Order: sequence, then C-alpha cells, then structure tokens
Amino acid sequence: MCGIVGYVGVRDALPVILDGLQRLEYRGYDSVGVAVFAGDTIHVRRNAGKLANLRERVKTDPISGGIGIGHTRWATHGAPVERNAHPHLSMNGEFVVVHNGIVENYLELREELTAEGVVFRSDTDTEVIVQLIEKFASDGAHGDVAEATRLAVQHLRGAHAIVVMSKRQPDRLIAVRIGNAGGIAIGTGEHEHFVASDIPAILDYTHSMIFLESRQMAIVRQDGFEIQTLGGQQVHAQAHTIPYDPVSAAKGEYKHFMQKEIFEQARSITDTIGGRVDFEGNQVVLPSLNLTAEQAQQLQRIVTVACGTSYFSGLIGKFYIEQLARLNVEVDYGSEYRYRDPILDDTTAVLAITQSGETVDTLAAMEEAREKGAIVWSIVNAVGSQAMRVADGHIAMNAGPEIGVASTKAFTTSVVDQYLLALYLGQLRGTLSPDAIKSHTQTLARLPDLVGRTLEIERAIHELAHQVYAYTNFLYLGRGINYPAALEGALKLKEISYIHAEGYPAGEMKHGPIALIDEHMPVVTIALKDNVYDKMLSQIEQAKARDAIVIALATEGDTVIQTKADHVIYLPEASALVNPVLSVIALQLLAYYVAVRRGADVDQPRNLAKSVTVE
Ligand code: F6R
Repeated sequence: MCGIVGYVGVRDALPVILDGLQRLEYRGYDSVGVAVFAGDTIHVRRNAGKLANLRERVKTDPISGGIGIGHTRWATHGAPVERNAHPHLSMNGEFVVVHNGIVENYLELREELTAEGVVFRSDTDTEVIVQLIEKFASDGAHGDVAEATRLAVQHLRGAHAIVVMSKRQPDRLIAVRIGNAGGIAIGTGEHEHFVASDIPAILDYTHSMIFLESRQMAIVRQDGFEIQTLGGQQVHAQAHTIPYDPVSAAKGEYKHFMQKEIFEQARSITDTIGGRVDFEGNQVVLPSLNLTAEQAQQLQRIVTVACGTSYFSGLIGKFYIEQLARLNVEVDYGSEYRYRDPILDDTTAVLAITQSGETVDTLAAMEEAREKGAIVWSIVNAVGSQAMRVADGHIAMNAGPEIGVASTKAFTTSVVDQYLLALYLGQLRGTLSPDAIKSHTQTLARLPDLVGRTLEIERAIHELAHQVYAYTNFLYLGRGINYPAALEGALKLKEISYIHAEGYPAGEMKHGPIALIDEHMPVVTIALKDNVYDKMLSQIEQAKARDAIVIALATEGDTVIQTKADHVIYLPEASALVNPVLSVIALQLLAYYVAVRRGADVDQPRNLAKSVTVE
C-alpha cells in the first residue's frame, strides 16, 4: 500500500521520481507528492488525486535537482486531501519524509510533541515521524540524519517503510524498513542510486537491486550506499538481478492493464509450466521448493494461507493436493490465521500464496508458521519479495508484472503452480502412478491452448455485459472445484464495477440466498460437464422457477443447457481439474466488460490498492 520512490544521482530527480510513481500508482492513488532538494531548500509539490494532476502542476511550477523522494498514497489516517499528502515536511522545513505503514502510537507521540511546541500541519500519523527526526537531529544526533532517524524510529510502534531527505545532509537518502509494511529496494546504477517500495518503479533504470530486511537502514548516496541494522551494525547485503522486462509492464494496444493481463494468460501459464515438467522423463521438477523425498513422505498436512483472490486460488489448490498427493489441506485467510493459535509442527507445510509477496497478513501468517516450527513455502509472483525470501522454498508464478489492481493472471498461474506442486508431492510420496503423472502433465500441456480458445468468447461476453451491466446484485454459483471459481468471479465483479455480488456453493442456495432471487437478480452458474453437472442443472431450474436471469458457463456442445438458461457462454471441453482456470477467465472478462460499460476506473478501482501492507 502506498508507493515510494527516491533518487540521488547525476540525473534530474523529478522525471525519474514521476516515472517511478507512475509505475507504482496501482499501490494507492488517493494523493501524490514529490520533494526535491534544489538551491538550499526542500521543494515540495503535492496534491489530492492522481499523478496526472501532479504532472500538470510541475509543468508550470517545476523543480530541478539531483536528489528527491516521491509518494503515492492509499489513505489510512486523514482524508485524501493535499495537506495529508506525502511528503511531509518537519516544522522547520529541514527534513522531509515519505512513509508506508501505520504509526500505531501516533496519537500519544503527537500529544507529546505538541506539548513540546511542535506545530502539526496534517492529520496523518506519518507527520510524527518527521517531527521526531527533527527533534532528535538537534537533540542527540548532532545533525546526522541517519542517527536522528535511528533515534526517532525507536519510538514508533507498528510496521514501516520510511525514506528521509534533509537539507542538513542533502547528499543522501535514509531508508528504513521495520516489519512488513512493504519492501524497500535499493537500485544501483553508475553515479546514481534509487530507492523504491516496489521493483517496477525503477526497472527502467536498473536491474541490480538490494532489499532491506526488517530493522535495517540504508544510507544511500550518488556513489554508494551502506546498510546497517537499527542497532548500528554494518550489513553486507546481497545484490539481486531482476529479470523483468519493463516493456511487458506497458499497456501496449490494450485499453486497460486488466484487459492486457487477461489476454496474457495463455502466455503466462506457458511460462509457469515451462521448465517444471520434464515430458521425456515423465516427472515434475520443482528445485526451488528445496524439498527432499524423505520430507515429502513425512508430511502430514498442508495449511494454505492467503488473502483475497490468492485465497480463492488456495481453495482450488486444496482439490489438487488432496486428490493427487493424498495430503490433508486446510485453507485459511492470512488475516485470521495468527489469531487462532494454530497447531503446527515440522510435519506441516504452510503454503503462502501471494502475488505481491508483501501482503502484511500473509507475511504474518508465515511468521507464525516459522515460529511454530512448520515448513514454510510460498507461491509468489514478485521476484525478490519478502514472501519469496523468507520461505524455506518457493514456486514462482512467472506471470510477469501484474499492474491492474484486480488480480487476473496471478490467479491462474498460482492455480497452475498448485497443480504442479500436487503432482510433485504425489511423485515424491508415491501416490501417483507413472500413467497418472503422464495424464496430468498432458492436461497441463494442453492448458495454454484451451486458455487461448476460452479467450475467443470475448465478443460474446462483451454483448452479454451490455445486457446485464445495469443490475445491482449478482449471485455466482459453483459446485466442487468450481465453487472457488464462483467466489473469484463475484469478487472480480464487485471490486471493479462496484456491483454487489455474492459467490455461493450452488447446493447452499436453497439454504438462504434463494430468498434474494427475483427477476432483478442475474445468477451466474458454472455448469460445465463434470461430476456435478446434473446437480447444477437442478440448481438452474430452481433459480429459473424464481424468475432469475440465469447466465450459464457451459461446455461446448451442451445443447440441453440452452433450454434452461437465459444466456449461455460456451467454454472448451477440458479436464475437470483445469475447468476452474477456464471459468475464472470467462468471469474475469464478464467483470471487465460490465465495469467498462459502467464507466468505472478498471485498473484503479476506488478504495483498493495492489499491495496491502497494512493490517
Ligand atoms: C483481488 C485482489 C486482492 C489480492 C489480495 C492478496 O483482485 O487483487 O484480493 O488478491 O489483496 O494480494 P497478494 O496476492 O498480493 O497477497
């Protein structure tokens, strides 16, 4: 949540920071701001709303200098108005701060500082940080910015990512990470260095990055940087080379990132399978999981932890792992898990699924698992993210950058990763015959083609969206492995079109939600040819009998369903295990076209952010 960019070097800082913020806008877009040191002053420009407003503003009111910081905000404390936009200046204008996270004790600190004569100019929790730094700069730190920052952050409760600039030492940026309020990457270049909360912000300039761990501080200058713990010890951090191609993070011919990312799914699933299936040797290879056959055989249970879309992906993975590796799987929300005092030991693997690798609730669940002695794995998209680094083993989604706030290709690639994981575990545990492995890997090999064919329904979905976009409530029904697909379809619709939508297990409809059904309620049913097809037909009959407008996702060639549903969208025939991938893609398209028809901001829906780094 919130995006941070910093620059120090030979270029003009402002365009570098604005470009970086553009790439981070998906993290929050309530307000935006920059601070650049020029002459002997810190110049701040900020405004409510999006980066486009700031770009206009600096055209007429430019600032030019070689060091600066910027921020795009997802509001937590204080309304999204200009005075609450970051960067925040200290009372005497000597220090300026951008921040990700929540200062849990900010009211207390604010009262103490106010009593000492500090005048606050915003309603944010962040402002206490910069006021504390200014206080400690004169009182204990002898003007040293790093030292003043170190002293100040010791008073903060909560998790934080902070970048500080000062006119006292205008050759450096100080970056601090405490806990899991989002990452801090330091990018290195020739005579220049970058700071960013997320990799895409600086990928145009460098692929060489260092990531701060919790309770570390970086002092970043034009010609070098040093990393220390908050206790003052030097840290030798390892540089990572990040492979993403910034071009793939551009919209190209598509109208929205979400549309582009939906259409990239045949490619991204190919990349996810690539290198993991040895078709000649008839086996799945997942070396990054760091799992021995002995460990696999001793496993008793898998606990999947995730949030939002990633949680629904975990519900599908449960079918794979239970069926193929004969291991019991529990799926839990990251935000709930640690409050349950869960029972864990080294015969349990906790599997975190997270696109960003920075979701604070999922990271907290991983920490809980680590403390209780479980094996910790992650399925992650963002290379180098915290969830990848702290796990004992990981599987990359290989989806490439996902910029649209609503998750699409990360969902389908994480489902495929879990299919691969289930096969790998089944192989190591001896629960799958060679013939079974072959049949499943062939199912995977055919999947990109089926995804490509599914995307051909775009036109039909576009027309359907025009017919149903004005309804205000939708019910999504699925059964078995397609129940999580119904949940995901409903989430997609509500988050980008603001239409109320509920996902339900189809068999539960008659236990309550049926009371809602009338001629104003579209009911989206996933009625593909599988072992619950007949049951789904009965549910469609029951909904129709209450005048619902029934939209059915059906298998190509099913003519019976045309006599039952008002609208039928055909998907290619596929193995039941990959059906949810195809049905979710159809539901992503439906949500997308409904939202576009309603004129909603598809890539940046209100109140949401791509990376949820606050509790
Ligand atoms: C929905 C969506 C969110 C995320 C959730 C977890 O489209 O994007 O529900 O899935 O915030 O995010 P990650 O996967 O980054 O942990």
